Amino acid sequence: MEFNIENIIRPHLLDSKSYTSLRNSYLKKEVVLLDANENPFGSYNRYPDAEHLQLKRKLAEINEVQPEQLFLGNGSDELIDLAMRMFCEPTQDAILVFNPSFVMYEISAKLNNLDVEKLQLNSDFQLEKEVFQDVISKTKAKILFLCSPNNPTGNSIDDLEFYIQSFAGIVIVDEAYIEFSKEVSAVSLLAKYPNLIVLKTLSKAYGMAGLRIGVGFASPEIAVLFNQFKPPYNISSESQKLALKQLENLEELQKNISIILKERDHLKVGLEKLSSVNKIFPSDANFFLIEFKNAETAYQKLLEENILTSLRHPALKNCLRITVGTAEENSKLLNVLSKIPS
Ligand SMILES: Cc1ncc(COP(=O)(O)O)c(C=O)c1O
Repeated sequence: MEFNIENIIRPHLLDSKSYTSLRNSYLKKEVVLLDANENPFGSYNRYPDAEHLQLKRKLAEINEVQPEQLFLGNGSDELIDLAMRMFCEPTQDAILVFNPSFVMYEISAKLNNLDVEKLQLNSDFQLEKEVFQDVISKTKAKILFLCSPNNPTGNSIDDLEFYIQSFAGIVIVDEAYIEFSKEVSAVSLLAKYPNLIVLKTLSKAYGMAGLRIGVGFASPEIAVLFNQFKPPYNISSESQKLALKQLENLEELQKNISIILKERDHLKVGLEKLSSVNKIFPSDANFFLIEFKNAETAYQKLLEENILTSLRHPALKNCLRITVGTAEENSKLLNVLSKIPS
């Protein structure tokens, strides 16, 4: 069946009007701003650009797409939630996610009263096609989340295009960590699949987690809906300004990514020598999933030395997820772990 967005979006949104700011059409003129109940005094008295025009233009250029294909969220967390609210009917619909995968999909689904169907990954954290076929033959999911590289496992998922083309609803490829991998972005598939949405973020490789900027890519038809239904002023003026400034210096950002990748290699070598470690899973991201002989002990020992790691995913027994830090932070980590008896 041919994809038609009108069959996917929640029906009551089809004819609804959203809040629109007309500022951008007037700002080139000398205009007295008495439209938005702002305070005429102060340095931050004006609302930010609701259309994120400059930032979208820059991100479109970097990603070689048209600005009309972009929509920005207050972190990609906001876009994940917005997608559910736009496409899924509470108490009726479901989302489909890897198990294990990024926990926010389930948290947002719960908040939106949606069921969560799971695609169990195998012991290499890959998806097997038979498992996928079996689940989608009886799914009621409206959105399929493909997180690659996957959080918390760290690996890229093989043959993503097969899953994209096999699902009739909305497919969201979450590429929060793609810049740390050698994989080609699914943005290159947008022209081929009208049901595809790709999410990126400035929080990871771009080093701007504090600015809260998530980036969505889709067909102009889908992008217009996200731009229409997002909270109007979801990204502050300062965030937009600072992100633009940082994006002018892509060389510096690229240099930092290279340092992180080198550190990832060093850290792996160090971890492999530890007797408390059972297995280090391959990583295409800026973190490792590590199976310990006793993850709780490792977690507590690190905590005693003021090193915080993550021990949270219910599907992963005896594992810690550890971010690649600076050379100094990583050697501190290895030093503490080396003192844990096997
Ligand atoms: C896979 C994945 N997607 C999305 C996000 C959310 O990123 P943001 O900071 O843009 O909200 C994260 C954050 O950890 C993540 O791991």
